[in-house]
Amino acid sequence: MTTAIEGAELTQVGPGTPMGRVMRHYWLPAVRSSEVERDGPPIRLMLLGEKLVAFRDSQGRVGVIDHRCPHRCASLFLGRNEQGGLRCIYHGWKFDVAGNCLDMPNVPEDQGFKQKVKAKAYRAVERAGLVWVYMGDRAEPPPLPAFEVLDLPADEINVHMMQRDCNWLQALEGEIDTAHFGFLHGGHVDPKDVAETDPFYYTITNRAPQYHVADAPWGTQYAGYRAAGPGQTYWRFANFLFPCWSQAPNGEFMSHMHARAWVPLDDGHTMFVFIFWKKAKSAQALPQPRYRDGTPIGGTGRGGIRMLPNTTDWLGRWRMAMNEGNDWGMDRDKQRRNEIYSGIDGIHLQDQAITESMGPVTDFAWEHLAPSDQMITRTRRRLLRAARALSESGTLPPGADDPAVYRGARSGYFLSPDSTASWQDVYAATLASAVHPP
Ligand code: FES
Ligand SMILES: [Fe+2]
Repeated sequence: MTTAIEGAELTQVGPGTPMGRVMRHYWLPAVRSSEVERDGPPIRLMLLGEKLVAFRDSQGRVGVIDHRCPHRCASLFLGRNEQGGLRCIYHGWKFDVAGNCLDMPNVPEDQGFKQKVKAKAYRAVERAGLVWVYMGDRAEPPPLPAFEVLDLPADEINVHMMQRDCNWLQALEGEIDTAHFGFLHGGHVDPKDVAETDPFYYTITNRAPQYHVADAPWGTQYAGYRAAGPGQTYWRFANFLFPCWSQAPNGEFMSHMHARAWVPLDDGHTMFVFIFWKKAKSAQALPQPRYRDGTPIGGTGRGGIRMLPNTTDWLGRWRMAMNEGNDWGMDRDKQRRNEIYSGIDGIHLQDQAITESMGPVTDFAWEHLAPSDQMITRTRRRLLRAARALSESGTLPPGADDPAVYRGARSGYFLSPDSTASWQDVYAATLASAVHPP
């Protein structure tokens, strides 16, 4: 079980908190490059509980700075983005992307005060159509995580962003809670109505699969496995990766190059950033699962997510139209008729609804984690150990200084002939024969 104190350690991300310190050792994907236009309006950006603004200057460089002007704390969101910097509209102080004060027009130049003031700026880089932010204080920032997907040609990478109204760990745990698949997503499906060749088939045939769970260099890993006919095993591998990434099993292992970030905006809001290879045989690319007779399986749609228009609010970006206020679009008739087990249409929306329904931050002391929740338990332990080691002895968390650990991480499903090899050897052998970036 997780105590209330451990729960606070795991879920709080503000400056000076144990997990907030862990998060500040990594680059986090935060904004789409297209959200900040050259000399265009700054955007409000909430990240790790800090209120920031992001803007792109006349040279195309992206700045991410504390929204408070260092003069009298007026918000730089209101600022004028002009000629190489952001100018506060209160007294006209102007700052560049590194936080240097370029101009202080209300103070005589000969008083030399301009050199004494800096805006609080964080490092930003662009990759895969995203602005990544490093919120730590190392003079030399760490390298980006070496996910395979980031090494693919830019035009083969796709990105989705969606906000989730709950704590980052709660959202992430929705991904590594694999035992829910045969219920939340497929509880209404009778296996005899589905062809054995459909990837959906095995997850609903045996709704209580066995698991292996272990620590991995990048965090934790599990393999769910089920017998799949004579002499074969159906595997579903998935990963948690420091500090807030997952790799889901919902794609064919051989080509499933992707990474899913659950970036904390504040303690009760998370930005899901999904970076994936367009050519992979992943859930995004596959057609909706169907019954033998060709009818789509209810509730398993993947596209068609309705989004609200972005606003300039702190939490106004990339929000889904379905939320607690409209019961996530639940259709009680479909639930009752068992057309859709949950009554909610769409796999991502079902996960969104479940994790948001727990409230902004789960009360861990209220839970009763079962043996089927080993991946969750182990991941929390791994996070707590890393956070404590960092706070107590300055030991850096996994992958912070060694981004190559992410290279060995892949998830997805595959069939393999039964053998005496360990599950990790089966994984390594399958990974070795998989598709990789050029
Ligand atoms: S508060 Fe920004 S210039 Fe005065
Ligand atoms: Fe799910």
